[in-house]
Parts: sequence; structure tokens; C-alpha cells
Amino acid sequence: MATIIDGKKTSTDIKDELKLKLIELKEKGIEVCLCVIQVGADPASSIYVNNKKKACDYVGIKSLSYELPENTSQEQLLDLIYKLNDDSKVHGILVQLPLPKHIDEDKIIEAISPDKDVDGFHPQSVGRLSIGQKGFVSCTPGGVIQLLKRYNIAIEGKECVIVGRSNIVGKPMAMLMLRENATVTTCHSRTKNLSEITRRADILIVAIGKPRFITKEYVKEGAVVIDVGMHRDENNKLCGDVDYDDVIDRVSAITPVPGGVGPMTIAMLMHNCVEAVLM
Ligand code: GUN
Repeated sequence: MATIIDGKKTSTDIKDELKLKLIELKEKGIEVCLCVIQVGADPASSIYVNNKKKACDYVGIKSLSYELPENTSQEQLLDLIYKLNDDSKVHGILVQLPLPKHIDEDKIIEAISPDKDVDGFHPQSVGRLSIGQKGFVSCTPGGVIQLLKRYNIAIEGKECVIVGRSNIVGKPMAMLMLRENATVTTCHSRTKNLSEITRRADILIVAIGKPRFITKEYVKEGAVVIDVGMHRDENNKLCGDVDYDDVIDRVSAITPVPGGVGPMTIAMLMHNCVEAVLM
């Protein structure tokens, strides 16, 4: 029987641990503060931002929210970031992506002080991760590592195949698995004979953004499968990049969608906000 990796419970465990740390920090007179900036009113972004604010309330982090109009200029957004960079009461700054087309996302991410980069998107955070220095880790891949560790899934020496090479998930995921001493292969849209490579994986991590793409032909018997995807299918049902029903009899452990990797992202954001106090 496969282990179903419960991301909802694990994320609650992490948030409950953080709650205690935040009480300790409060007793020392430190109030952890996250600023969440949203430009425009994209409905999906508004849901994400709301969930982040709710998680802050749950763990005891102060959240300040900046809801800016769609026509905010790049300069106005940069000025706000510079102001928050200089505010010692602010520990984390998060600019919800995507941004409107007239704003250069790279410039915005680079403007955030690396000491307050709780998303882990700043080139300095990514560079630090790649050379094994301490720094903020992108929340979704950080959450995957927590799931593996908290379910006592050995990583060291294992064949790990990652499908997807985005800056937010695939690339940092590869760095993190390397840091945990896995043998890592990253596949992407131009990879030839994909199923041959994915079938080598002891741990298969999928973040390709294609609903139910990974079927049992891609999975080795006994593999651990981590599904980072999130889609709505033709019946409006949530599903991942992995065809769960097709692979379930073949895997030793798997993350469901919903309730797998998804809830971990916000828990790791809360974790990074607490870490920010020490930066
Ligand atoms: N948009 C979708 N996911 C994320 C995230 O993790 N952080 C930010 N800033 N924007 C996002």
C-alpha cells in the first residue's frame, strides 16, 4: 500500500511549531512583519494573497497588505519596495507574481533586499543556494524537502529525477536535492525519451504544468512521486501533473492533489518570515 503524503497535516504541524517560536520572539519584543504587495486584482492572485494573510494571522505574524491599482508604474512600485527595505520593523517583502506587463518582474525582484526576500526569488538567494550558502529557499521546493524528511524518505544516494526547470520550482528543487546528496537529473520540454529517464527515479518530482501527464509508464515500481502541479480538469475537478489513479498501485509514496505540495508553500513562507528575523 502506498503512503499518501499529507501536505495539509504537515503544513499545519509546521505552522504550529512556528506559532511557538513566534510567542518566544514576542516575549523578546520582536514582532515579525511580512509586507504583501499585489498590483492589480487578478482573482487567482487575490486568493493566494488572502491565504498568505490568513496564514500570518494563524501563526502570529503581522501582515501589512499593499493593494495597488493595475496602472501602478514600475517607479511607484520600486519606491514602495525601497521604503520597505529601509523599514527595520519589516522583516519580509513579498510581491505577488505575475505583475502587469508594463512592469519588469526581474527588476522588481532584484530591488527587494536579499535580507527580506522571503520568496527566495532574488538572484542572491538563488546564487547562495547553488553554492551551498545560507539564504532564503524558494517556498515550494523547500516544502517538498520538508515532506520527504518528515515522512522519513531517504534522499541521500537516491536517483532523483525532476521534470520541469522553472526558476521557482525545477531549478531550486534540483539544487536542494543535490544539497541532500541525491543524484539529480533535470528533464524539460526538449528532453528526449522522457519516460526512459523518469523510470530511473527513486524520487520523481513533477512540475511541468500539464494535467495528468505522468502515467504509470513514466514511473518505476516502488518510486516516491511528488506532484507539484495544480489544474482544474474538464469536470472542474482539481488534479496535478501526475495521473494519480493510474500510478497509485506502482508507487511507494505519493503526494495527492489537492492536499499534497500545495499547502506546504505557505507554511514555508511563514518559516522564511521567521528566519528573516535572524538575517
Ligand atoms: N505567484 C504564484 N506563486 C507565487 C509565489 O510563491 N510567490 C509570489 N511572490 N508570487 C507567486
